[in-house]
Amino acid sequence: MTMGGHQIMKIYKTANYYEMSRKAANIISAQVILYPRSVLGLATGSTPVGVYEQLIRWYDKGDIDFSQVHTINLDEYCGVPGESVQSYCRFMQRHFLSKVNIKPAHAHIPDGMTTDVDAECRRYDALIEALGGIDLQLLGIGHNGHIGFNEPGAAFEKMTHCVALKDSTRRANARFFDSHMDVPEKAVTVGIRQIMWSKQILLIASGKEKQDILHQALHGPVTPQVPASILQMHPRLTVVYSE
Ligand code: F6R
Repeated sequence: MTMGGHQIMKIYKTANYYEMSRKAANIISAQVILYPRSVLGLATGSTPVGVYEQLIRWYDKGDIDFSQVHTINLDEYCGVPGESVQSYCRFMQRHFLSKVNIKPAHAHIPDGMTTDVDAECRRYDALIEALGGIDLQLLGIGHNGHIGFNEPGAAFEKMTHCVALKDSTRRANARFFDSHMDVPEKAVTVGIRQIMWSKQILLIASGKEKQDILHQALHGPVTPQVPASILQMHPRLTVVYSE
């Protein structure tokens, strides 16, 4: 984890969700064009959907080739089968992976159906290490400041681990389920330590309801109570947001 030293934080405010998505997609496509073998850290949720749509458009035009790219997703619910519409595995297939030429064997996501969650976490850690770490990590931010599923109070030094989701997170994600009670209580997430090891981080946020937590994360004290605040210490953080 880089503490102190030379942090370069670039913040781009964009006019709307579409422009946020285009700007973020531009940064990702520049990475892939310059470094075709990049390891991309990817996120699910509502915020990155427009980024994926834009990348798919450019892929369709022949402007980006993902054939050598590896992807590492941040997180997955425990106990939700990969084929289920609520799984992050299915989400990634539907919104991105099935629409571009990323090789299935190159697309990685934690297995939330494992019977040995500790072994799965260690497998994921080893995989990230074997790939040489993440070159560009795309992140959204939760209303409570979480990144991945690293909830407030999470230790900054954690690697991939199983988390109990906060009630606020389960309520925020209830829109993808029949009710908030159906949202799983646990998830596997990449840890903050690994997120901070990424060579570059791209944080995106959109909507009025994200502005306060984004401001706290970028300009407030660095504290586990706002997990995203640790990103202030990253040497190459780019933030793209719209109100
Ligand atoms: C998703 C993830 C989460 C989301 C965050 C924001 O893989 O790791 O941290 O980025 O919950 O979600 P949305 O974009 O739905 O507001």
